[in-house]
Amino acid sequence: MQDHEQEKWTAARYAQRFVREGDVVGLGSGSTATDALRLLGERVRAGLKIRGIPTSRASAKLAAQLRIPLITLDDAPEIDVTIDGADEVDPHLRLIKGGGGALLREKIVAAASRKLVIVADSTKWVRTLGKFPLPVEIIPFARALVARRIAALGASVRLRKGTRGEPYVTDEGHWILDCRFGRIRNPAALAQKLSQTPGVVEHGLFIDYADVVVLARGSKIEVYRRKR
Ligand code: A5P
Repeated sequence: MQDHEQEKWTAARYAQRFVREGDVVGLGSGSTATDALRLLGERVRAGLKIRGIPTSRASAKLAAQLRIPLITLDDAPEIDVTIDGADEVDPHLRLIKGGGGALLREKIVAAASRKLVIVADSTKWVRTLGKFPLPVEIIPFARALVARRIAALGASVRLRKGTRGEPYVTDEGHWILDCRFGRIRNPAALAQKLSQTPGVVEHGLFIDYADVVVLARGSKIEVYRRKR
């Protein structure tokens, strides 16, 4: 395993302590969340009773293979704990998410969670958000308008493409604009502007969502908790 792959696994293993018997668990998306899901699967095989709410089709499929019982937000509107990954984390525990394209359901599940635990390798920790292109999920019809508005905010904007050059389509049937800001000096203000743009379904800035960040550096774990 490469170093960062090992770190993902280390963080995912540490985060297992946040999931207890009987919990409703939000199942994140992406490679680090997948490690956490596999470890959860092992615990379920060993007898742990939980119910999962997946944040993407991919997580739902894997969870089913691992025989983790799945429910929906209609069955349990409140989630005890969600374990998910991130593309960037800053010292205020603000996040960029959505590199894997699942940001919409990830944000809904995060909003429904009593505790959001983010698992990350050391490359995800940044002083200032924005090096990673911010994913913005949009209605296809609004692409030109939204792209122009976001470019006016100082980003270079690209429509995410699939493997054959066609627009990448999210689980919910939308498109994604990857918006390279370089440095996002005021994430809250940007989040508000994006949310107010017609045609934007959701954006990948997660502010005041993460309760705990479990970050692996080599074999060491750093745990950051949100100050309330
Ligand atoms: C999925 O849409 C994302 O929000 C992921 O959680 C994020 O991209 C981190 O993915 P990795 O764990 O694969 O780096």
